[in-house]
Amino acid sequence: MSLHLGDIVPDFTAQTTQGPISFHDWLGDSWGILFSHPKNFTPVCTTELGQVAHLKSEFDKRGVKVIGLSVDTIENHPAWVQDIKDATGSTLNFPLIADANKKVSTLYDLIHPNVSDTATVRSVFVIGPDKKLKLSITYPASTGRNFQEILRVVDSLQLTAKHAVATPVDWKSGDDVIIVPSLNDEAAKERFPNGWKTVKPYLRVVPQPGQ
Ligand code: BEZ
Repeated sequence: MSLHLGDIVPDFTAQTTQGPISFHDWLGDSWGILFSHPKNFTPVCTTELGQVAHLKSEFDKRGVKVIGLSVDTIENHPAWVQDIKDATGSTLNFPLIADANKKVSTLYDLIHPNVSDTATVRSVFVIGPDKKLKLSITYPASTGRNFQEILRVVDSLQLTAKHAVATPVDWKSGDDVIIVPSLNDEAAKERFPNGWKTVKPYLRVVPQPGQ
């Protein structure tokens, strides 16, 4: 079953490189990112896992717990974790789910049979503190993801969850933002007493709140 934005993400128990977890309990009140990669001991996945480990402090800063998933056994993980360190210089510092029986992959629709019956696609799920799905993306095995983009998206999700704004094309934290169309000018005056720039009546630009 595919997941839709706003759905409560499926809960599960699983073995990970940091011991057994119950997913919703593990998330607690934090934001979370669950990401899948096709298989252990494959080149693109090795670079991705190393990069996520390298960026862990950036996820921590944003209060985001990160967890990876592969359809390999728990016994198979340590040798690959060593390879990741050898190849990228980064020690895996977040849990990696061992989903050899594809229980979690099935729950999150990570096996796309027209591509492969065995390996997962590269999906990313960003989950809010309410356990609801805020964003999902799916890449093919041949294309490594850009985790700086995932951080940028988290910045937007966290900002727009708190303020009545949306973020424009190529926005990055610190740039101006857009007042949401659902806020009329009268209501906007209360939220943004310093005013805004009207580019079009429906495109009202303000500095990023909370800066
Ligand atoms: C990789 O991670 O390098 C990879 C995995 C499956 C197919 C192609 C590439």
